[in-house]
Amino acid sequence: MNISDLLHSGSKVLRLNKIKTHQLDSEIVLSNLLKKQRENLLINLKQNVAENVIFKFEKLISRRATREPLAYILKNKEFWSKDFFVNRNTLIPRPETELLCENIVRIFKNKSLYLLDIGTGSGCIILSILTEIKKARGIGIDISKRAIEVAKKNSNKFDLSGRVKFLNKDMDHIHGYKFDLIVSNPPYIKTTDLKSLSDDVKRFEPKIALDGGKDGLDVIKKVIYKSRTILKNLGLLALEIGYGQQHKVSQILKKQNFKEELFVKDYKNNVRCIIAKLNN
Ligand SMILES: C[S@@+](CC[C@H](N)C(=O)[O-])C[C@H]1O[C@@H](n2cnc3c(N)ncnc32)[C@H](O)[C@@H]1O
Repeated sequence: MNISDLLHSGSKVLRLNKIKTHQLDSEIVLSNLLKKQRENLLINLKQNVAENVIFKFEKLISRRATREPLAYILKNKEFWSKDFFVNRNTLIPRPETELLCENIVRIFKNKSLYLLDIGTGSGCIILSILTEIKKARGIGIDISKRAIEVAKKNSNKFDLSGRVKFLNKDMDHIHGYKFDLIVSNPPYIKTTDLKSLSDDVKRFEPKIALDGGKDGLDVIKKVIYKSRTILKNLGLLALEIGYGQQHKVSQILKKQNFKEELFVKDYKNNVRCIIAKLNN
């Protein structure tokens, strides 16, 4: 079978299973198996594919047909132009989270910095910040032991393990530190809204990474309360939030002596990140 035939057969299986991105997904799976750029496949459509590759391709396509996200099937996701290792124990890093990193990098460029990432998952936020800010050091924590294993793997992969410690801890158990910056992309979806998420998300991504409790604000509140005790005075808290949560989160921040410095909007003009300064 040649590349063209194989791509068509993969795409057809996915189309019949109502995967909208069937053509693209088929190309991504094959380019990954052949370790070639997608563009390279498309100019070599008549090239034959080895039996063992066809076998692996069909297996991966049948996983995608069940709606398993490509990031889990291929065990990687690009974030901040780096290939992060991911698996089903971590949230798949989202492009909107890059907005948080972008603003933090701009604010702290060339400064020395001690930061905490609460709910680090794959480590994508803290590792991206450490890549850009050479004088930064920090700690990433997560309540999930398996997520911490993934974050450690990424810190080794990007040669950053000398500047970051990853700890399997609930934020409640962080005491005796004072940070210049706390970053967090906490779970912020209302429990009742979880069932309306797309199948790719609700059936495969960890519930503990998504579920923000009754009003979606349970973990956000905990992050803000905790930050008040472990941030240096005038330290910054950078928080990713969900659609429509800005007003309520602003109220909580003000009550806890935070002054909002920056609202970062996504490409649809929704505020998705708040950066606030502690003024105790
Ligand atoms: C939305 S995910 C974010 C993952 C990653 N930072 C990212 O942006 O892709 C939230 C993470 O918070 C972790 N988490 C939930 N509750 C926590 C808690 N009380 N203390 C520490 N981590 C927690 C979850 O295990 C999950 O990995």
